Amino acid sequence: MSDRVTKKTKESKTPKQFVDVDIAQYCEAHCSLESTDLASLAAFTAEKRADYQVNLSGRSVGQLLKLLVALSGAKRILDIGTFTGYSALAMAEGASQDGKVITLDANPLSETFAAPFLAQSPHGHKVTCVTCFAHEWLPEQAASSFDFIFLDADKHRYPAYLSACWRLLSPGGVLVADNVLWGGHVVSAQPSSRAQAVDQFNQLASRLPDATAVCLPLRDGLMVLRKNC
Ligand SMILES: C[S@@+](CC[C@H](N)C(=O)[O-])C[C@H]1O[C@@H](n2cnc3c(N)ncnc32)[C@H](O)[C@@H]1O
Repeated sequence: MSDRVTKKTKESKTPKQFVDVDIAQYCEAHCSLESTDLASLAAFTAEKRADYQVNLSGRSVGQLLKLLVALSGAKRILDIGTFTGYSALAMAEGASQDGKVITLDANPLSETFAAPFLAQSPHGHKVTCVTCFAHEWLPEQAASSFDFIFLDADKHRYPAYLSACWRLLSPGGVLVADNVLWGGHVVSAQPSSRAQAVDQFNQLASRLPDATAVCLPLRDGLMVLRKNC
């Protein structure tokens, strides 16, 4: 943890904004509008889930995922951490008709919650929900099984997820990880174990010899990695 800013911070569960609030709102307002399916999924999640703000990736991250999937032409997409299905549906919207999104969550309620929204979306048929522990499921998959992976599950496993996901990613594939600034606690003088795990992930990711990595201060921080061909 070199170059750490010396400050004591208490971890908050509310996602932190790292850029000026007015600028962040301006950027959000100048991202494409969500589809009505994504907007109704987000609204229903906000109504039913008290942990909505902390967990749901939201419009700007969702639109970026949709864009990256479309730009990369990814067909085999993995979403680690379904929650209520927002990121899975956003990526399905960016994928071609024959694209497939597998979304994993340990909580069986994730699939139940997402199902009606996937059923009403013209892109929902691309999404398969799997109820499992991601850290057990990932090692069982064949190498190079995916063209695009979005990592958004338990943060203390981020370093282990990096090596598991890297094996599963095809050459030219893209890995995006959410919450890589962990509310700013990655630069805390007294980081929690989760902040340390996320920081370790960032250090490992940025030093991968066969990757191009960019760490972005969008929402709670995104790491975007491409596995070089
Ligand atoms: C931040 S939420 C995902 C948000 C979602 N990607 C979105 O954009 O709305 C994290 C999810 O990961 C799930 N999760 C946590 N640890 C997990 C594990 N080991 N295996 C599978 N799912 C896990 C939680 O149940 C939770 O629903």
